[in-house]
Amino acid sequence: MLDITLPSPCERFTPDWKYADDVDIYVKRDDLIHPVISGNKWRKLKYALSELPDGMSRTVSFGGGYSNHLHALGYACQQLAIPFTAIVRGDYSASPTPMLMDLLAWNCELVYVNKLEYRQRETPAYLKQIRMRYPNAVIIPEGGKQPSALKGVGEIIDELTFQPDYILLPVGSGATLAGLIPKLNAAQHAIGIAVLKGENYLETEVESLLTKPHTNWRIEHKFHQGGYAKHSPELVQFCQALFQNHGIATEPVYTGKLFYAAKTLIENCYFQKGAKILLIHTGGLQGARKIKTDETN
Ligand SMILES: Cc1ncc(COP(=O)(O)O)c(C=O)c1O
Repeated sequence: MLDITLPSPCERFTPDWKYADDVDIYVKRDDLIHPVISGNKWRKLKYALSELPDGMSRTVSFGGGYSNHLHALGYACQQLAIPFTAIVRGDYSASPTPMLMDLLAWNCELVYVNKLEYRQRETPAYLKQIRMRYPNAVIIPEGGKQPSALKGVGEIIDELTFQPDYILLPVGSGATLAGLIPKLNAAQHAIGIAVLKGENYLETEVESLLTKPHTNWRIEHKFHQGGYAKHSPELVQFCQALFQNHGIATEPVYTGKLFYAAKTLIENCYFQKGAKILLIHTGGLQGARKIKTDETN
């Protein structure tokens, strides 16, 4: 059984950032949905897990050694008694990451594949092989970006009791952004904060997930700090201060970059006075263990 808390709280956020008083900032605390399957993870996996097609009794998915997606899915499958196979990029058998240790403790099957094989994860021929190996399995793509994920993500907007002018969120695969865009009206804008180097590529990914073109969204590419999981000591300090001053826990891979981007944009008068800005806290705090590992290595 999963003890999910929905709707997630939406809190007024009043930082002491320059010009923050000129706008109204809110945080959708999806990080509080569940201690493990937090943030966009539950939103994306909800329908995949609650509507397993008849005869399907296993899930298979893909990710790296620190993947928040595999971590959340592995936990959910253990709780729901669904066998789960994680196809992991790289061989961590000699020293599993903390995230992989959790998956092993939750009785997930880990299949380590090299980068070359991992690169084939979306090709029809490779997926056919996986289907032959696991005939009763639902195959969930990397990052949980199956079409039902978009429906789950869109429910964030259904829970709001006001209409934000801008919605800001971190972008990795683009599925969370793609789930929000169709739910906005013409006066609302979604702004994705790219957490990795992916100019044009990320826009194309988001467009490929949308069923029709929309114009009320964009992705900001100035805040990835050099690439996925790359971060400055300043960002780490920023996350710590955010927690000390506001009790909001973030990590430097996704949500730290989101809040930092919001601060920079507000300080640069990017939004009109009086704008209502909603930050989506997409959870993923287990990813902070990567930072700790990197820093102790
Ligand atoms: C905590 C967290 N926030 C944001 C994202 C980005 O979401 P998406 O991959 O849907 O763009 C991810 C990755 O899935 C994540 O783990």
